[in-house]
Amino acid sequence: MRKKMLTIVGARPQIIKAAAVSRVVTNEFSDSLEEVIIHTGQHYDHGMSQLFFDEMEIPAPSKNLHIGSADRASQLASMIAGLSEVIKETKPDVVLLYGDTNSTLAGALAASSAGVKIAHVEAGLRSFNKAMPEENNRILTDHLSTWLFAPTSQAIHNLAVEGIKNDAQFAPSPDHPAVAHCGDVMFDNAIYFKGKTPTHEVQNVIQAAPFMLATIHRDHNTDDISTLRRLIESLIQVGVETGHRIILPLHPRTKARLNFDTASALFKSPEIKLMDPLSYFDMLALLQHASLVLTDSGGLQKESFFFKRPCVILRPQTEWVELVENGNAIVCGSDKELIVQSAKKMIASENLSWPNFYGDGKASHFICEKILATV
Ligand code: UD1
Repeated sequence: MRKKMLTIVGARPQIIKAAAVSRVVTNEFSDSLEEVIIHTGQHYDHGMSQLFFDEMEIPAPSKNLHIGSADRASQLASMIAGLSEVIKETKPDVVLLYGDTNSTLAGALAASSAGVKIAHVEAGLRSFNKAMPEENNRILTDHLSTWLFAPTSQAIHNLAVEGIKNDAQFAPSPDHPAVAHCGDVMFDNAIYFKGKTPTHEVQNVIQAAPFMLATIHRDHNTDDISTLRRLIESLIQVGVETGHRIILPLHPRTKARLNFDTASALFKSPEIKLMDPLSYFDMLALLQHASLVLTDSGGLQKESFFFKRPCVILRPQTEWVELVENGNAIVCGSDKELIVQSAKKMIASENLSWPNFYGDGKASHFICEKILATV
C-alpha cells in the first residue's frame, strides 16, 4: 500500500522548496508515495504564492486554510487548529515540513499533537538569535521531528550540540530521531530550472548591466523605520560608489512600510529600480548576471553562492556560516558604512572559491528514499 505524506506549505520559500521534493515524488516515487499538499495561506498574494505553483508545476494544494496575516500568536493558533483538522481527515503516515516559518512550527505542533511523525527539511540551521521568530520556529520543529534532513555539516553539528545525534543505522523512532546530511533541495531546484527564460522586463535589466540584486523583508529590518531608511540609504550609496543599478524586488511587508513613511522619497533615486516580487525564473536569471547580492533572505544568500555571486548579508548573523567562513559573504547587519565598504570589497575580490557545500542536486531523491525506507 502507498504511504501517505502530508506536505505543509504556507510561505514563498516553502513553496519553492516543496517544488523540488514534489517533482521527485511525482516522477520517481508515485507508486509507493502519495503526497497531499496543504497551504496554510500565510502568503496569499498571487506573486508570493500561486505564481510558483504555476511556474514550477507544483501539484495544486488539496486545501488552502486562508489564514493570512495576523500577529504571530494568532496566526500560529489559527494554523494549528486548521492543520489539526486536516491531519484528522487525511490520516497521513508522515507530515513533511520545510524551513522555519510560522507555517512550519504550526505544522509541527499539529502533527505531534496528533501523534504523526514529522520529517523536517532544512533541519539544524541556527542563527543563535532567539529574537527572530524563525530561530524559535526551527529549534522547536527540530525537537519535535522524527526525520531531520540537514543541508550542511554545520547543521549536523548544531543538532548534535542540542543532543540530536546522527544515527548510522538511520532507524528512527519517537525516542530516537534520525538525522541525515542530505544537501539542499534549493540547490536541486537551481540546477533544474537555471536555463529557464525570464520575462522581458528582466531580460531588459540584464541587458542594461551592471547591476546588483537586493532584497529586504525581515521584520527587524522593516518594522523599525530608522533601520529601513538606513538600509535604503546604504543601497543608494552602494549604487553611487560602484556605478551599479540596484534591483530591488519589494516584499509586500516592505512595500507596506514604505507607503506610510518618508522613506518612500528615497526611492526616487536613479540608482534603485523597484520591482514587484519576482517569479523564481526571473530571480534565477538575475542571480546569474548580478555583480553582487545584498539580502536579508536566508534562501538568497545560498542561491547567490550557487551561481558564484558574492553576497552582503543585511542581518546581524546568518545560519549559513560556511559562506562567511569561506569569504563568499560578509555579515553587515544594517551598518551603512560596513555595507558600502563590503559591497566594494566583494565586487573587487578575484580569488573567491566556491566549494561544494550544498550537495549534488539530488537531496530531494535522498529525502523521499529515506522516508519511504523507514516510515
Ligand atoms: C515569512 C517567514 C520568513 C521567510 C519569509 C519569506 C515567518 C515567521 N517568517 O516572513 O522566514 O523568509 O516569509 O517571504 O514565518 N504580506 C502580504 N502579502 C503576502 C504575504 C505577506 O501583504 O502574500 C505581508 C503582510 O502584510 C504581513 C507580512 O507581509 O504583514 C507577512 O508577514 P509573515 O507572514 O511573517 O511573512 P514574511 O515576513 O514574509
